[in-house]
Amino acid sequence: MSEVGLAGSSGPFAGKVAIVTGSESGIGRETARLLCESGAAVVLNGRNAERLAQTRAALEAAGHAVASCVADVTDYAACEQLVSTAIDAFGWLDILVTNASISQRAYFADMQPAVFRQVMDSNVYGSVFPLKAALPHLIKSKGSVTFISSISALNGMPSGSAYCAGKAAVANLAHTLRLELAETGVHFGVVHIGFTQNDPEKRVLAANGQPVSIAHRPPRWQKSQAEVASIIVRHIQRRRQRTVISALGQLIVLVHTYFPRLGDWVVRTTMRRMRHFYE
Ligand SMILES: NC(=O)c1ccc[n+]([C@@H]2O[C@H](COP(=O)([O-])OP(=O)(O)OC[C@H]3O[C@@H](n4cnc5c(N)ncnc54)[C@H](OP(=O)(O)O)[C@@H]3O)[C@@H](O)[C@H]2O)c1
Repeated sequence: MSEVGLAGSSGPFAGKVAIVTGSESGIGRETARLLCESGAAVVLNGRNAERLAQTRAALEAAGHAVASCVADVTDYAACEQLVSTAIDAFGWLDILVTNASISQRAYFADMQPAVFRQVMDSNVYGSVFPLKAALPHLIKSKGSVTFISSISALNGMPSGSAYCAGKAAVANLAHTLRLELAETGVHFGVVHIGFTQNDPEKRVLAANGQPVSIAHRPPRWQKSQAEVASIIVRHIQRRRQRTVISALGQLIVLVHTYFPRLGDWVVRTTMRRMRHFYE
């Protein structure tokens, strides 16, 4: 990573410049906050100008070095703007976290094809396009890329077809890039996040594309956004290849690897007994 420091910053990420996509809210906002508190300058991103401005103002008020760019990360030209914002504001780029995503609450058979594509686009091209635009700068700084995936990429999850497929795609992409670009010194990692507390205004897509609130999640299964952000930041600092968050995530890896039929039986049973969990 670049050695040049940003004036006045201190901490493990002092002098580093990061882009966190989808950081106007939720886990992305808390990851941006923690990177700032660890010394980085951070470019914030989202599609909602008002919410983005509020998040930026809160971080600036805390004395952090931030810039922001309203950009839809499924639009390549907008991703070039996002990367230009980092270079214009801070001069270089060390860290990319592809966090922006839309999820779903819809069974495959009911989903309009355009809605399936929208969810896939946000989870696949929403990571590919920012990375394509940022890669020359990340190669220059021998920087770090973290794809935010989900534990649902490790196994199928009913009512999450396009989301699970998109999250699995970026995990495989990270592996391929690690092999293809090994000589560049760029870190490519994946964080598989488990159930996390959500902003009350978080929305996912129904089968017809309408934004709806997420399905019920037992609170005791959820980590806080701050806990998840601290795991993401530690993952970046240690340049880890894969981080699976939560005991449930580790259990899914174990069962999926060694007892896949048992895993499917458990999911089918919860589909019958805990429909509200999926619907
Ligand atoms: N919360 C969980 O339980 C959980 C579990 C597993 C994985 N994850 C993953 O963790 C990440 C963050 O999730 P979260 O719970 O914090 O979700 P969230 O609150 O909905 O945050 C997602 C952010 O991405 C932005 N976004 C969505 N589409 C975008 C686009 N095309 N271009 C730019 N920004 C876009 C959203 O803002 P706008 O819509 O206003 O643009 C929002 O700021 C996601 O990748 C998610 O899949 C979360």
